[in-house]
Amino acid sequence: MSQTLVNKSINYVNKKQSFVQHIKASNFRNYKNLELNLSSDNVVLFGLNGVGKTNILEAVSFLSSGRGIRKARSKDLILKTFDNNPYEDFSWGVHANVFVKNKKFKIGTGINKKNNSRLVKINDEYMKQSDLSKIIKISWITPQMLLIFHNGMQEKRRFIDRLINIANPTHVGLLYRYEFLIKERVKIINNYHDNKMWIDTIESEIVDLSIKIIENRKKFVFDMQNICFKSDLNKNFFLDIYLKINGKAEELLDSVGEEKYHCEILGILRKNRGYGISSFIGPHKSEVFIFKRESKQEIRYCSTGEQKIMLISLIFKHCHLMETLYEQAPILLLDDIIEHLDNIHKRALFEKTSQYNSQCWFTCTNSNAFNSYPVSFKSIDVNKLQKDFSKKSELKYA
Ligand SMILES: Nc1ncnc2c1ncn2[C@@H]1O[C@H](COP(=O)(O)OP(=O)(O)OP(=O)(O)O)[C@@H](O)[C@H]1O
Ligand SMILES: [Mg+2]
Repeated sequence: MSQTLVNKSINYVNKKQSFVQHIKASNFRNYKNLELNLSSDNVVLFGLNGVGKTNILEAVSFLSSGRGIRKARSKDLILKTFDNNPYEDFSWGVHANVFVKNKKFKIGTGINKKNNSRLVKINDEYMKQSDLSKIIKISWITPQMLLIFHNGMQEKRRFIDRLINIANPTHVGLLYRYEFLIKERVKIINNYHDNKMWIDTIESEIVDLSIKIIENRKKFVFDMQNICFKSDLNKNFFLDIYLKINGKAEELLDSVGEEKYHCEILGILRKNRGYGISSFIGPHKSEVFIFKRESKQEIRYCSTGEQKIMLISLIFKHCHLMETLYEQAPILLLDDIIEHLDNIHKRALFEKTSQYNSQCWFTCTNSNAFNSYPVSFKSIDVNKLQKDFSKKSELKYA
């Protein structure tokens, strides 16, 4: 590990709002034990393909709620040997000291062996995942995120909902409950169709949740549209992004208001308890569109490089919104970000991240790519970190 120092001519942020100062991961992906001591400086993880760079970002991403940068299942995170002699440990853990607005938080998270669920400890006390998101905001850009723009609407909705959840950590919980109740309603109608009161209660909660979800999304789109006027993204070669979330439910709610919307959707749900049980309008059918504001070109029609620039612009705009609303720029995890970027955009990204108010993490295969980075950063050679644990080699040295 070495500290690289380059030109300090630009406005470097000395007091970062959020940063990871120390992180340990155990039995996590290809790491038996990983330990990094850091400062508030940005971090560059470099190393060969498959050496474990993204795995480190993934460990950091578990310092917030959800399933991390890869949307992984908890059991896939546990260190494996991929041979006939599996390493039989059934847990993983990540521990970190994180500074947020000058306050230190001790975070511990990992898998609960009994029911596979995730445990969270903040300053040695068990807490909920959503409490974690209230304290620490983390956002990321990964190459897989670009696929979202070519996949179905569900993926796009999930992407936007995750961004909303960074601002409003109860949002994803509402969605889980909404999706759960939709399935539950079908089950109950099929098995207990005589219990009208039970079905009525579930349907009423479905409609209440749908209003809350639509309102959260609407507020988010509104905030994002407004923040762009104050942002400096255009000047730095990033694009101004325009978001749209459309749907029949949104249109109805807009035109008739909450009370009538409630009655109408309840009416639809009651009617289709028999035939067409799952066909009703709601936030599970909304359509998400991402455009360049100026040309109105939709992201899926842009080149790979342009899509990356749009994605970076969108995430920075969102971070700018978080900073404006909560005085807390999210910690940013930027996986393989400089791939596909031309020199102009690379320089713009370097300037943007060196002036950014919280810690940024980069991964790349070649540390020379950061020779022109304008400020000091922590450079970590991932090739040299302790890697996977092989039972065979343990036995050999026993
Ligand atoms: N549960 C696991 N147990 C052990 N090893 C794992 C586990 N999950 C993934 N790996 C291994 O971790 C290695 C590193 O993955 P990672 O994605 O972090 O690489 P990377 O350095 O980001 O590579 P690239 O430059 O190609 O993006 C891979 O070889 C993968 O097989
Ligand atoms: Mg990687």
